Amino acid sequence: MSDARTVRVDLAGRGYDVVIGTNLIARLPQYAGKRLRKATVPVVADANAWAHHGETLKEALGRADKEVALFSVEPGEGSKSWRNLEALTDWMLNLGVERGDQVIAFGGGVVGDLTGFASAILKRGCGFIQVPTTLLAQVDSSVGGKTAINAKSGKNLIGAFHQPSLVLADTGALATLPRREMQAGFAEVIKYGILGDAAFFDWCSANASAVISHDPVALNQAVAKSVEAKTRIVAADERELSGRRALLNLGHTFGHALEAETGFSDTLLHGEAVALGMVLAARYSARRGELSDEDAERVAAGIAVAGLRAEISALELKSDGPRLVEHMRHDKKMDAGTLPFLLLRAIGEAYVAHDVILSDVADFLDQQLRSRVSA
Ligand code: GLY
Repeated sequence: MSDARTVRVDLAGRGYDVVIGTNLIARLPQYAGKRLRKATVPVVADANAWAHHGETLKEALGRADKEVALFSVEPGEGSKSWRNLEALTDWMLNLGVERGDQVIAFGGGVVGDLTGFASAILKRGCGFIQVPTTLLAQVDSSVGGKTAINAKSGKNLIGAFHQPSLVLADTGALATLPRREMQAGFAEVIKYGILGDAAFFDWCSANASAVISHDPVALNQAVAKSVEAKTRIVAADERELSGRRALLNLGHTFGHALEAETGFSDTLLHGEAVALGMVLAARYSARRGELSDEDAERVAAGIAVAGLRAEISALELKSDGPRLVEHMRHDKKMDAGTLPFLLLRAIGEAYVAHDVILSDVADFLDQQLRSRVSA
């Protein structure tokens, strides 16, 4: 029996299904159906994901009398470059990809963002199918149509909104993911609880270890609940115009500063930075008197229970508050000289604050860097 669940992203004319369950890669041709029009299927794959799961996809397509044309992508943000985009779009053109065709993005957020953007601009837009193989991509980046490459001056600064035509989140594929990446992806799962669903936050706190250690029931539940939360938000505010979609950036402004300070390196994975960022957002909300100290510490405990760092002092940064705030000034959300901050009124109730004074944030960060050194 199939354990697959389908969540519909409701967007007029651009709606699509997100299917969540195990063994989905082996059934891709059934889910994609007539969308795969040609005998050769273009697949853009993360080299690691392909090494682990490529054979499964190849065999499945083979059973449907199709073969794979493979464009391999080196893991890492460096692959979201102009150079790679040019190589990928040339490759797609040489393959004869047409507007009505589908390109498969097989891997994590890097492959999804790059393939999605190439599909957005190829002949002014062709189709693409997301097959996310990391927890982070399954619960966040593969859904919602944000696509991008990086510019010299920052991450994701060149991009487009371009919705996929199908997302297959095969949770079985996560079995080969290192524990650290499961933990980092878990930060984006618990984020949905912290920003909009207190009961889901409690569920995440109680089930962190089951999810991270691939318990299939807990993992499917975590991915499905996250995707449901994300699709609701995307359907309400596809292009991040009303402020609703901006809630998904909870923890990202603080987190981005930490990522920038650590050179966007393996020292701090994106999800780990978001985890710390959510703790900081909660504690900063408490400092403003909008959240109780007790709830801010519950957020920290929910992060820590997943084995994620909840204290910025643990990073042992040679930095200070003003320097971290300097990184925030380059944030792409900067608007007319102010930076909107995602803060909390309660666990499960995030909001966008437009009145945050950056010098106060610098003071707060100094305090966090100092006061919890031995935490
Ligand atoms: N990852 C945030 C968003 O999709 O809007």
